Amino acid sequence: TKRIIIDTDTAGDDTIALLTALHNFKVEGVTITGGNVQFDQQVENALYTIQVAGKGGQVPVYKGYERPIFAIGEEQHVTVEDVHGKDGMGDSFFEKAIQRPESGHAVDFIIEKVKEFPGEISLCAIAPLTNIAMAIKKEPFIVQDIAHLYIMGGTNNALGNITPAAEYNFWVDPEAAKIVLHSGIPITMVGWEMCTRYSVMDDDDHEEIAALGTKGSEFFINVNRVVKKFNKEVHRLNGTTHPDTLLVAIAADPSIMTQSSHYYVDVETVGNLTRGYSLVDINHRLGKKPNVRVCEAVDRTAFKDMLLTVLREID
Ligand code: BDR
Ligand code: CA
Repeated sequence: TKRIIIDTDTAGDDTIALLTALHNFKVEGVTITGGNVQFDQQVENALYTIQVAGKGGQVPVYKGYERPIFAIGEEQHVTVEDVHGKDGMGDSFFEKAIQRPESGHAVDFIIEKVKEFPGEISLCAIAPLTNIAMAIKKEPFIVQDIAHLYIMGGTNNALGNITPAAEYNFWVDPEAAKIVLHSGIPITMVGWEMCTRYSVMDDDDHEEIAALGTKGSEFFINVNRVVKKFNKEVHRLNGTTHPDTLLVAIAADPSIMTQSSHYYVDVETVGNLTRGYSLVDINHRLGKKPNVRVCEAVDRTAFKDMLLTVLREID
């Protein structure tokens, strides 16, 4: 089993991604970055999810940066409780897990683990890239020793979700995304429209999942309750999206990604309308060396199979 670290702003789909990771990998640790909902709530959500997976006390959780690199005040970090619920868990308000977070900083944990297992650790980034960028800044040498970095973020030059131009993870901390994209680490990126195209679980899928009748399936239905409503009302999308889970599934089984290409990818940090926009140079017009393998198509059936297997086996 491959060793990974998951960097997450644990809410909604992050929790299902985490279950999927715990099922498929040796998860060395979970690091928390500011994103979806209030920071300490995200920490609790990660701890609770580990407990749901039956791994309470076995996987350490580290707190990282609560806010984006350039954010000065709280107002410069926008959380999205409207998408995932006040607690980020579909307004389930679960009780606290027994496990508590570690005292060290997420960034130091990432650096130490990469040092301990050079060339062996892959990172799955399913949140704004603040922690990963800061780890690179603190110990630049780690870029040679990270096996692979899987990023859920950006778009393939298409519609965003938080603004018309930008996907949430890149939009929250575009400076961090820029540092990471240009770091030289081998990167696979799964952008937002891959998720709207291939990861949506519609009403029938939800019924099928509920019918599994396991602890895992019940958890899935609970944490997705608010996002299901939100998607219908705001995105006119019938069902729930699973960007973070899709990313982890691809990391676990690369054959789920049926088409991908290497492109030069950059992120807009200054635009008035386009801050956080990810530019994928599909026609190689900029003449720059490709830095990212961009996901272009997914085997939806294989993805759904993996998701259902995970939810079935958590009981
Ligand atoms: C990303 O934003 C978050 O709300 C999700 O967890 C995912 O990581 C999608 O844009
Ligand atoms: Ca996330």
